Amino acid sequence: MQVIKDLQEMQNLALAWRARRERIVLVPTMGYFHQGHLSLMEYGRTRGDHLVVSIFVNPTQFSPQEDLDRYPRDFKRDCDLARGVGVDLIFAPEAGQMYPAGYQTFVTVTDVTKGLCGASRPTHFQGVATVVLKLFNLVQPDVAVFGEKDYQQLITVQRLATDLNLPVEIVGRPLVRESDGLALSSRNVYLNPEERRSALKLSQALLKARELAAKGERSRQNLFAILEPIFSNDLQMALDYLVLVDEQTLEEITEIKGRARLALAAWVGRTRLIDNILLEVA
Ligand code: PAJ
Repeated sequence: MQVIKDLQEMQNLALAWRARRERIVLVPTMGYFHQGHLSLMEYGRTRGDHLVVSIFVNPTQFSPQEDLDRYPRDFKRDCDLARGVGVDLIFAPEAGQMYPAGYQTFVTVTDVTKGLCGASRPTHFQGVATVVLKLFNLVQPDVAVFGEKDYQQLITVQRLATDLNLPVEIVGRPLVRESDGLALSSRNVYLNPEERRSALKLSQALLKARELAAKGERSRQNLFAILEPIFSNDLQMALDYLVLVDEQTLEEITEIKGRARLALAAWVGRTRLIDNILLEVA
């Protein structure tokens, strides 16, 4: 497995692959791999000739109050895990090369980034869209793979690719959970045992909603009447948002017609966690 840090070296290699009509698959990450990341790589492996995984903790998607400095990192372990699932190349650029002095260009995706996480993290998706476009230009992927764990991010990247006519197929892959239901996240390492028990209520609530929807419950009001007490009774936890949205536009809906996404973010102690689930009314 090759490791490249230099931007020009990465782009030259990618352009050479493209010139030979070899297919490139990219899985963008911020590292500290868990089974969710590895599931994207395993899928990516099946989609092309060169599987590239980028590891870059992107400063422009963190606000000054957020956890950029303490975001977990373990490059050696990440390389071992990536090698184990057949990754060909790790692209791990430095922040100073990605955003050198004088850098001033950003990409904004408008409507789908306003609600959900965008409401409390107003600059986050601009940072994500910008770094993803830069990574696409550097790695030249035919296919890029994202997880539904960050559902709003997936929709944002799909809009970016459609609206800017990017020659890349964006693939969304299912959210991977621990056996007890907790959504896998690099940030789960921040949780102490008591917080982890509280965090479990997030996925339990979503799974309960899925069950109710499958039995025919379509009403947002009825679903939320059952879900909200699950959170409000827990002192460890502060709900940031709980929304029922259209799968593509992310606009809030009051009734499920066929399919919808139920998404949430919550603070558990000092840790912000997100989760979401597809609701399908039978
Ligand atoms: P990161 O949080 O490292 O996630 C990298 C990819 O792994 C994302 O597509 C994310 O949705 C996916 N992922 C994370 N947890 C998952 C889970 N439990 N199941 C399935 N997929 C999961 O998302 C980012 O990095 C960054 O914002 C990035 C896109 C790299 C831009 O900086």
